[in-house]
Amino acid sequence: MSEISAVELQKVVKRYNEILAVDQVDLTIKKGEIFGLLGPNGSGKSTTLKMLIGLVLQDSGSVNVLGVDVQKDPVAVKQQVGYVPESPRLYEFLTGIEYLDFIGDIYGMQAEEKKSRISEYLKALQLEGREGDMINGYSDGMKQKIALISAFLHKPRLLILDEPLSALDPRSARIVKDFLHQLKNQGVTTIMSTHVLEIAQAVCDRIGIMYKGKILALGNMKELREMAKLPDSGLEDIFLKLTGTDDIKAVVEELAK
Ligand SMILES: Nc1ncnc2c1ncn2[C@@H]1O[C@H](COP(=O)(O)OP(=O)(O)OP(=O)(O)O)[C@@H](O)[C@H]1O
Ligand SMILES: [Mg+2]
Repeated sequence: MSEISAVELQKVVKRYNEILAVDQVDLTIKKGEIFGLLGPNGSGKSTTLKMLIGLVLQDSGSVNVLGVDVQKDPVAVKQQVGYVPESPRLYEFLTGIEYLDFIGDIYGMQAEEKKSRISEYLKALQLEGREGDMINGYSDGMKQKIALISAFLHKPRLLILDEPLSALDPRSARIVKDFLHQLKNQGVTTIMSTHVLEIAQAVCDRIGIMYKGKILALGNMKELREMAKLPDSGLEDIFLKLTGTDDIKAVVEELAK
């Protein structure tokens, strides 16, 4: 494993019975990089992200995160990683502040630091005033903010974010995007999946397009444009072309019949 890479996957395969969810994936993500994983529903993005922290174990191949073999030492990896799953399950009968306090304790944070970081984040994400309410009364976006704060709280070196901005209003999404850039300057690596192509285009240094368990194309916007032979295009056209779904017009017409 090279000194500068945060994540290294080699020939990783994951099957769920007859479904081949991840098929021989090789992927190296550099430290300090913001990497976006795109792909149609069911292409293997979440499965790939889950393997990075040992929530799903690969059938073959190797998964190294921050220099640690995840299968051998998943706890060591989890200590250094912040993870937001695609549908975070929070303890709904705790208040926001109780939940974050509990997460801080799990990571062994000092009381003072925990308190000040929680209040900073609550303020930045405009949850101030609602932290004493029970989570089951929060909106989806508010729950997503709590999940994000709990991933950021312990100053992880790697953030694994599965559709992290899907429920956020534009202002909150902007705050999180700017924050990811700030963390990048401190050497923090982010790998995120998203269906919002503008977010990937605006935030990510490099993008990997997954399709049927494989990484079909990988690079920065310029490289992806070249691969798709679409020199002036945005990510949406590239994505549709590379995943072979640029015939959506026909699909929509078929549905409308
Ligand atoms: N726990 C599971 N049991 C069985 N099959 C699963 C399981 N998790 C995922 N799969 C299958 O693996 C494939 C990849 O799923 P995955 O959730 O990784 O896709 P995804 O790219 O994250 O999709 P989406 O964009 O919808 O979130 C799918 O065919 C899915 O049905
Ligand atoms: Mg997913």
